[in-house]
Amino acid sequence: MKKLITKFPKDFMWGGAIAANQAEGAYLEDGKGLDISAGFPNGIKHDYDQVIEENKFYPTHEAIDFYHRYKEDLALMEEMNFNAFRTSINWSRIYPNGDDLEPNEAGLKYYDDLFDEMIKRGMQPIVTLSHYETPVHLVKQYGSWRNRKLIKFFLNYCETVFEHYKDKVKYWLTFNEINNMRRMPGGAGGIFFKEGENQQQVIYQASHNMFVANSLSIKLFKEIIPEGQIGCMLSLSNTYPNTCKPEDVFETMELRRRSLMFGDVMIRGEYPSYTARIWDEEGIEIHMEPGDEEIIKCHTVDFLAFSYYRTSTHKFGQPFHGDTGGDQGTPNPYIETTPWGWQIDPLGLRYTLNELYDRYQIPLFVVENGLGQIDEIDENGDINDDYRIDYVRDHVKAMKEALRDGVEIMGYTYWGPIDIVSVGTGEMKKRYGFIYVDRDNEGNGTMERRKKKSFHWYAELIRNNGKNI
Ligand code: BG6
Repeated sequence: MKKLITKFPKDFMWGGAIAANQAEGAYLEDGKGLDISAGFPNGIKHDYDQVIEENKFYPTHEAIDFYHRYKEDLALMEEMNFNAFRTSINWSRIYPNGDDLEPNEAGLKYYDDLFDEMIKRGMQPIVTLSHYETPVHLVKQYGSWRNRKLIKFFLNYCETVFEHYKDKVKYWLTFNEINNMRRMPGGAGGIFFKEGENQQQVIYQASHNMFVANSLSIKLFKEIIPEGQIGCMLSLSNTYPNTCKPEDVFETMELRRRSLMFGDVMIRGEYPSYTARIWDEEGIEIHMEPGDEEIIKCHTVDFLAFSYYRTSTHKFGQPFHGDTGGDQGTPNPYIETTPWGWQIDPLGLRYTLNELYDRYQIPLFVVENGLGQIDEIDENGDINDDYRIDYVRDHVKAMKEALRDGVEIMGYTYWGPIDIVSVGTGEMKKRYGFIYVDRDNEGNGTMERRKKKSFHWYAELIRNNGKNI
């Protein structure tokens, strides 16, 4: 029988997470190609510009200039005692068009330097292979993941980066929030619909192609970095039934299954049995090649990484919809709400960790959790973000309880330890950071970095390995 765990393990990974496109900027520098993130002026929840318009402001083009300032930024992360840092490699820095024959050396060098800097500062790099950054050429030329050719291009990219960084990076994630193919297929998979298409058909076909790519990338990974670990990454904020009415309860389970299906394929190695009914009722026919199911069965992930921000409630008959925070239904009267309508629910994290561990029995990694809020600088130049401290404290407490419940948790990387561009809405005003960046929604500001009150609090939390919680 497993022993009772009462504290965070010694090797627990503490740190923060960002994505290349939301932080780096330098969107066409050093041979980088265009990736889809460059075409969303108001974030992936909103319209996508097929052609970048001159004189229009696109927040990711400069973002917070992490590309040039990463040394300064990582020094601040070191001050907060991070032992892990998650970011993505922007695919289009390595293969500018996605289907190029040779990688872009300047792109490889940039990430070499970045990972060296993290390691020098005592941080384990955790790298996402694809975080809403599909090269635009693959979208225009091939229709993105609806086309199986993407599998080959993705594997070529994976082989290059696994080989190149095998001595530096031991923890990898395949597709960021792959289940957001359901909610935001443009951002998650570069899928933009043509008129008259059965959208669900396209979403599930593209997802299937990504599942095959996921499994084959794991196969490659095990050959190249056998001592490393690779995980899938899902958006798993949770949804409760709005009432105890059986229809609310049942349909909430069905909604949750739409996300867990993605985990089931990549962790259990097969589509769950309820998939057949969903596809039948929605007129979906998935093209699978011989051998696909075996590939998916044989190459599964080592751990489940996920984002958790909030909970919502679902009422029977309510259409399913969501955003970067997860599924979104009817507000819950028992919990607080941020200005963006995200409902804060630390106990929901404990609930979710238990739910996932019961289902999968593999290590879990909370790779995103954070509070997007409006921060103000007071007359002394301070930012007293006690609300952020409360948010993190309560979620870390919930994680500690989940450890006691017997859940295996590898680490916690707070989302957005430094203010970055919001992926959902393209704003800077929605700030997550322990570090403030002087930049506004219109692109004004000096980019100066400033420590918020939470900076010192988080540093202390990590120094104590969560003991004082
Ligand atoms: C997740 C994404 O959906 O949520 C991140 O993986 C994102 O990229 C985060 O930034 C928070 O969402 P938003 O829209 O507030 O940036």
